[in-house]
Amino acid sequence: MNRLQVGIIGAGVISGRYIQNLKSVPFIEKLFIADQDASRAKNKGTEFDIPSVAVQTLLDDPCVDLIVNLTPPKAHADVSRMIIEAGKHVYSEKPLAVTRDAGEDILTRAETHRVRVGCAPDTFLGGGLQTCRKLIDDGWVGTATAGVAFMMGHGHESWHPDPAFFYEEGGGPLFDMGPYYLTALVALLGPIRRVSGAARASFAERIITSAPRRGEIITVKTPTHVAATVEFVQGPIVTLVTSFDVWPTSLPSIEIYGSEGTLSVPDPNDFGGPVRIRRGRESEWHDMPILYGFTDDCRGLGVADMAYGIMHNLPHRAHGQLAYHVLEAMDGILQAASSGRHYDMKSRITRPDPLEPSGWGLRD
Ligand SMILES: NC(=O)c1ccc[n+]([C@@H]2O[C@H](COP(=O)([O-])OP(=O)(O)OC[C@H]3O[C@@H](n4cnc5c(N)ncnc54)[C@H](O)[C@@H]3O)[C@@H](O)[C@H]2O)c1
Repeated sequence: MNRLQVGIIGAGVISGRYIQNLKSVPFIEKLFIADQDASRAKNKGTEFDIPSVAVQTLLDDPCVDLIVNLTPPKAHADVSRMIIEAGKHVYSEKPLAVTRDAGEDILTRAETHRVRVGCAPDTFLGGGLQTCRKLIDDGWVGTATAGVAFMMGHGHESWHPDPAFFYEEGGGPLFDMGPYYLTALVALLGPIRRVSGAARASFAERIITSAPRRGEIITVKTPTHVAATVEFVQGPIVTLVTSFDVWPTSLPSIEIYGSEGTLSVPDPNDFGGPVRIRRGRESEWHDMPILYGFTDDCRGLGVADMAYGIMHNLPHRAHGQLAYHVLEAMDGILQAASSGRHYDMKSRITRPDPLEPSGWGLRD
């Protein structure tokens, strides 16, 4: 198969990073940008020197193989469905959808249309998390028994130009940031067996302090502090807290506890390190060498892996089933929080293959 032509729908904040990275992928021939707001698409197109087109033109173009969905979470399902119905492979920003039904529908339609689904995050393909996976798989901390994962801050209304979607259904710290943590944990520890949780919205309103909406009030429509217990099929029990209600904290991003020691995992919103290990009764942490490439902000790496998979008829790693498993876990946590009962996971997946240390001929 020839090199791929790739479109992007959604010319917002994150699109620049994707365009910049995807422009350097040797097996992507051409990139297009589209947005329901044509002026946004035009501006991004001009900034990065790629063609801007109408959304429908992109969907109708028979030369376009794959479309990246960078719209806000609530639009993900509708836009991904349109892409699939147009007969194109889709790679969506996280979460896959804001409800489990919509996520399932995307996977079913993709199967019917024989197209692939990929989904962010792809940070688990970065050098930091791939190194952690190798250390766990090679037994550096023995058998994994437990872990903690913390994403705590005070929300995105201090920097994002249009932050209301973070406080709607499909936003909140769990659906917004949880995918980084849960995807990393599944890549490290395997599939999830069951979850439980407690959730609250500590503040009914948020004040935007970023331009251009400075001073506007957002009504909070989703939990903003979620504490969960995540039990893995292989046995480990992970305590996960995601919050937009916390001022400074000194808690780690992720730690994995094993029978022989502890692995300190880097921020799963990033691609690099540091990766540290402390075994048994050692008194000091050891910085481990990062064994894989892709340690800068490589957002779009999952798209490149998917494009490579399409060209060579190989599976891609940041795939729809993985994203659905994570969506089910997040939905299950909120369901458990409101019902007061554990949620037993229905989807079962296997961990995506590790990345080759050399990548696949992609420039790091
Ligand atoms: N901003 C970040 O730093 C960041 C980082 C990682 C992931 N993400 C994810 O990327 C996605 C986009 O985030 P963003 O910050 O770029 O949002 P944004 O609000 O800046 O941009 C979203 C764009 O999508 C367009 N859009 C909305 N609905 C559409 C539709 N139905 N059809 C076509 N275009 C439509 C909007 O006009 C807007 O230009 C979200 O899922 C977010 O969680 C964002």
